[in-house]
Amino acid sequence: MKTVRLHWKGKAEESVVICRKNALKFLGQTLQSSNTRAFVFTDTNVLSLYGKKIKRTLPDIPVFAMEAGEEHKNGETLFSLLSAMAKAELHRNSVLIALGGGVVGDVGGLAASLYMRGIDCIQVPTTLLAQVDSSVGGKTAIDFCGVKNLVGAFHQPVRVYVGPDFLKTLPMREIRCGLGEIVKHAALDKELFDELVSREVFDLEFLGEIVPKNIEIKAAVVRKDPQEKGLRRCLNLGHTTAHAIELNESTLSHGECVLLGILYESRIARTHVPCDKSYLDELEGLCRRVLSCDISSFDVPSFAQSSVLDKKNTGKGIKLVVPTFKGEYAEIELSLEEYTRELARIRGELC
Ligand SMILES: NC(=O)c1ccc[n+]([C@@H]2O[C@H](COP(=O)([O-])OP(=O)(O)OC[C@H]3O[C@@H](n4cnc5c(N)ncnc54)[C@H](O)[C@@H]3O)[C@@H](O)[C@H]2O)c1
Ligand SMILES: [Zn+2]
Repeated sequence: MKTVRLHWKGKAEESVVICRKNALKFLGQTLQSSNTRAFVFTDTNVLSLYGKKIKRTLPDIPVFAMEAGEEHKNGETLFSLLSAMAKAELHRNSVLIALGGGVVGDVGGLAASLYMRGIDCIQVPTTLLAQVDSSVGGKTAIDFCGVKNLVGAFHQPVRVYVGPDFLKTLPMREIRCGLGEIVKHAALDKELFDELVSREVFDLEFLGEIVPKNIEIKAAVVRKDPQEKGLRRCLNLGHTTAHAIELNESTLSHGECVLLGILYESRIARTHVPCDKSYLDELEGLCRRVLSCDISSFDVPSFAQSSVLDKKNTGKGIKLVVPTFKGEYAEIELSLEEYTRELARIRGELC
């Protein structure tokens, strides 16, 4: 078992992240001894895979399942959940358990932040992406008016229970999706990078082992900058280009877009900032290994125009967080014209 404690800057509260086998059983035992009224929020896929286990380990706790999928991460689902919470007569001291991937975590976290002006939320992330990324950091949201994550709040979970057992039922696409964020963390952390380049990245046992390290990397950043005012921007490494791709290419998962984003932005780094080129070659090799597809088939430059819509680009230029040396990054700003030119040049190199 591995426990990571997250103290939030200037605040008395903390989140505790518990990584262990049989995480759900352990959560059930903890709840039984605490006498807290609880409510489980999940999605239809997770319920069909883990419904029996949920009933067995969290007996007598009401369960509400949303339709699975990003297209249901909306106001309708949020208010259905809030209604179900009200019907279950949750009160100020109750706890909402968000058991699922990032979608469940985001909607559940937001509902917990709103219900009675905020009740406790426990996250039980069941996808690799949710385990290494979305369940830690307290960002919650729904998509609104066609804009992803437009309505949301910061609401730190009191506890996060991370179980490697959940990874066994994940489709390959979801594993690759989580690996996108893991490679991003590896670009920020030397030790994780060395581990990833020397191991079989799709091995579930290995992935289960490195989840706590990933949580520590994200937590170390979030702890210093919980409201995303400065340092937390490093978690956007590769993401400007990833978001540009994502807006136009619906067949790729977020993680795949992140891997392509890191690959393109590492090539931008070579021409704009001091960097270690042989390290960037290795990082690119890692992205290619995880992507395992023909990179030249994606017309990344034609997606570039969309990046002006990226909410992080508040000024005129395109802001990028690019990898430079092992464990290091740089923030750079390019004009839209220069950025588009660079992407076209890189696509030419890759084809
Ligand atoms: N809050 C944050 O900081 C943050 C960070 C990154 C991403 N996100 C959000 O997370 C969401 C993406 O999360 P995601 O990739 O987990 O997607 P998801 O929640 O849609 O899950 C992906 C699919 O896997 C299924 N699933 C979940 N657990 C499973 C399991 N153990 N076995 C088999 N199938 C399982 C789900 O039902 C779904 O069909 C996006 O909405 C994104 O905006 C939030
Ligand atoms: Zn991401």
